[in-house]
Amino acid sequence: MFIVVGVTGGIAAYKSVHLVRRFVKAGHDVHVIPTDDALWFVGLTTWEAISRNPVTTSVHDDVARVRHVSLGQSADLVVVAPATANFLAKTAAGLADDLLGTTLLATTAPVVVAPAMHTEMWQHPATRANIATLRDRGVHIVGPADGELTGGDSGPGRMTEPDEIADIAMTVLAPKDLAGVRVVVSAGGTREPLDPVRYIGNRSSGRQGVAVALAAADRGADVTLVVAHVETEAAASARRHPRIQTVEVGTAADLQSVVGAAAVGADVVVMAAAVSDYRVAAVSDTKLAKETDDGLTLELVQNPDILAGLAAARPDGQTIVGFAAETEPDRERLLERGRRKRERKGADLLVVNEVGWSRGFEQPDNAVAIIGHGGHVVAERRGSKREIADALWDVVVTARRSRNARE
Ligand code: CTP
Repeated sequence: MFIVVGVTGGIAAYKSVHLVRRFVKAGHDVHVIPTDDALWFVGLTTWEAISRNPVTTSVHDDVARVRHVSLGQSADLVVVAPATANFLAKTAAGLADDLLGTTLLATTAPVVVAPAMHTEMWQHPATRANIATLRDRGVHIVGPADGELTGGDSGPGRMTEPDEIADIAMTVLAPKDLAGVRVVVSAGGTREPLDPVRYIGNRSSGRQGVAVALAAADRGADVTLVVAHVETEAAASARRHPRIQTVEVGTAADLQSVVGAAAVGADVVVMAAAVSDYRVAAVSDTKLAKETDDGLTLELVQNPDILAGLAAARPDGQTIVGFAAETEPDRERLLERGRRKRERKGADLLVVNEVGWSRGFEQPDNAVAIIGHGGHVVAERRGSKREIADALWDVVVTARRSRNARE
């Protein structure tokens, strides 16, 4: 995605460094346009280094490429953060005396604006009128938040946190092709206790499952996300989403009961969690002590296969998706394992990826094949976990549309 980030002259400009970083890390092509005043707060070098693209404030640079309109024309999204009162006034009036102004007039992309200023300026009738004008034109206004301001005073005027701005920006961009669809997603890795302090677990960070939930919610779905020991940052981004209800679980048994209950009214269930296949036969109430020099033998019993159970009990019209992380390096054998697993568990779709000591887990990127009915590979995608999630939803939306058309 081609994202333009406008930065105007407010102290919150330093926070937008993180915003730009988040977009870059998610794989977007980011072009920063600071105003001259913004450069008092964060310099050009920082923006170039973080965005990995040339940065200028002037309409007179790079004239051969008609930069004053080309950035706006190429943009899929424009985000302005922080947006000062002066910027809001200029934009409401359609002024174009700098590169950010010309870009905004030249773009037809969605525009997200995160105001930041002192409370009095935010509440001034002139600013209120400018905000109303921008809203009427379809500009998405994010915040400001209520909180401590630079002068030590506090009130509405603080720029919304960059992670939240990024989340909202992604929501604005997403197609709304899952509106009204009820989705259940499990994410993370279950842990089976041995005693009050130890457990058997796995390396799943839950990032892929959370990305699946966020993508669905951004596309309009109502999502129940069941998280088992998901990495903190991923869990926080899910919790911020207004269309995601998060439920925390610990063991495979917990996961089974929560997902089972949520699945009853769901249209789509995605089991992205890494579920422990075994638990210890008898959990000790006290910490296991090392009493002899001998080894330790644990008796393990099998956990139920949650995905297979859901598939067997699925109501009419429900789509069931499984994930499979395999250590098989040979592509054909990997797909064959995936085909057998999909069949065995009765899922409609199985997302297969290869994992290893340094692949798949805890990594920002993933590479997957999605196997559908008849063992067909319906999609293959390499990219960020969000891109994989969107590829999965593209497949689910198409499958549900063609089934509805047949019915
Ligand atoms: N799964 C589940 N319940 C289990 C184990 C796995 O619901 N007890 C689900 C996972 O959430 C995932 C899919 O099944 O969607 C595949 O998980 P995987 O661990 O690859 O399956 P296993 O049955 O454990 O296969 P293997 O024989 O490779 O261990």
